[in-house]
Amino acid sequence: MDYDRNIVIIGFMGTGKSKVGLEVARRLGREFVDMDTLIEERVGMTIPEMFARRGEGFFRQQERQLCQELAKRRGLVIATGGGALIPEENRQTLGTSGLLVCLTCDVSGILRRLAQAEDRPLLDGADRRERIETLLAQRREAYSRIAHQIDTTGLTVEEVAERVIELLKSEAVVEKIAVRTPTGSYEIRLGEGLLARVGELARQQGLGGRAALVTNPTVGDLYASTVVKSLRKAGLEPIICQVPDGEAYKTLDTVSSLYDQFIACGLDRYGAVLALGGGVIGDVAGFAAATYMRGVPLVQLPTTLLAMVDASIGGKVAVDHAQGKNLIGAFKQPELVVIDPLALTTLDEAETQSGWAEVIKAGVIGSPSLFKHLEERGDEPSLPVIAEAVRVKVAIVEEDPYESGRRAVLNLGHTFGHALELLSGFTLRHGEAVSIGMVAATRTAVALGLCDEMVEGRLAALLRRFGLPTRYEDHEPREIWEAMATDKKKQGKKLRFVLPRAIGQVVVTDQVPKAVILEILERLRTR
Ligand SMILES: NC(=O)c1ccc[n+]([C@@H]2O[C@H](COP(=O)([O-])OP(=O)(O)OC[C@H]3O[C@@H](n4cnc5c(N)ncnc54)[C@H](O)[C@@H]3O)[C@@H](O)[C@H]2O)c1
Repeated sequence: MDYDRNIVIIGFMGTGKSKVGLEVARRLGREFVDMDTLIEERVGMTIPEMFARRGEGFFRQQERQLCQELAKRRGLVIATGGGALIPEENRQTLGTSGLLVCLTCDVSGILRRLAQAEDRPLLDGADRRERIETLLAQRREAYSRIAHQIDTTGLTVEEVAERVIELLKSEAVVEKIAVRTPTGSYEIRLGEGLLARVGELARQQGLGGRAALVTNPTVGDLYASTVVKSLRKAGLEPIICQVPDGEAYKTLDTVSSLYDQFIACGLDRYGAVLALGGGVIGDVAGFAAATYMRGVPLVQLPTTLLAMVDASIGGKVAVDHAQGKNLIGAFKQPELVVIDPLALTTLDEAETQSGWAEVIKAGVIGSPSLFKHLEERGDEPSLPVIAEAVRVKVAIVEEDPYESGRRAVLNLGHTFGHALELLSGFTLRHGEAVSIGMVAATRTAVALGLCDEMVEGRLAALLRRFGLPTRYEDHEPREIWEAMATDKKKQGKKLRFVLPRAIGQVVVTDQVPKAVILEILERLRTR
């Protein structure tokens, strides 16, 4: 799969779309598509012939179909026809596939560039200047709706191409979040298309040398080549280190196989480990990076929603043991986290849904505005939504880097959730379990008079809207209580509950009577 988002160049005739597009494609080593030329080839006649024989409507229909086709592809530089993106539908279709750039030019410039052109059916017959001015006036509003405009008047094709590429780069990094740690700080970069710029971002953090890119076959097939290409371009020496896909492989055996691969490729402390994948890859590669040669630099490249908003941030890395999840671990702060929301386009719907539970959790713990946004806007994992959930987690881990206090709030819904996960034999997904757990926690808070009933209503409605469960079946409340208590005892911890006081505010308490919990569990059970 070619992953880089498309660059779509729009503009009036004579603004240089085709020449600039070709130059941009040449510089970026991409495929160039000139829509008008492609339509001519497919229909088997020139555009003036098409207008004359089949009419403008036929041509516009060809444009519409081609927009839909190209929007499904990636890594292209596309020059559209001058009128192709005038219909709102076409603009939206191509807009979802990448960056839209509109080229403009003054009328004299357009006239000069079109001086020799005879194949412009829309300019036929009339005085050219007058015709151009009329057409421009008709299209001005549609062109002005394109967010990025480049005035090409007096510029060469090379200069315009340079500006398009600069725009692509600057537009990609939309968010930069700094995280303070006990030993320094690191940056989280968020932006669409950033996986193609990992090398450059790693360089900016002073990383170089061998780059061990740890991934699994699922994620590797989709994104490893993009990351490897960018690492090479930035002068790093990438080598792909594969581990099998799945929580079952989050083990010391897998870590050991990574050590073998690191040694074989000559990774040393001047190099880095890059974790490309979901939370499992982040945890296992992170643990390997924390321990190999007493620690080598780590870069997190999370590709699931859960890993983006939770697992990749905060420096906890771990593997599972036969006696329990995450029993063997370390604190290992990354040098850099790169979050590219476009990676979510290939994620399973069920995985995305699971991630939503963590995003909603972030809203309940620390961001009423995020919660409200989700209530109003629904389930688009957009960059601002991810960024806000990340900020909630960052604020908490900065305050409590070694998990000795405040960080416990991140376990909202987890006390109930873990017990349900365990009892289901892990057939219930983590996100689903956390979802039911958050409702149980909120209901407990209401029962104890800590929060208003409305909070529970809003939370349950939002979870349901995201397709997440709010009730459980199959188990006896007493069974769940036992599972919660045993789970905590095993970890040598007290049974503690994170309870909402309001949207955006939670408290941690171990003062919840067993009878209250049993009653709430009874009421949340479906029969
Ligand atoms: N370290 C922490 O602070 C922390 C916090 C929360 C969770 N975790 C850990 O995270 C793990 C769960 O992470 P997860 O939910 O990301 O699961 P996961 O890593 O198993 O990923 C889920 C599935 O999606 C695939 N996948 C990942 N990205 C994809 C993409 N962009 N397109 C297509 N497929 C993709 C994976 O290969 C996998 O099959 C657990 O082990 C949990 O303990 C750690």
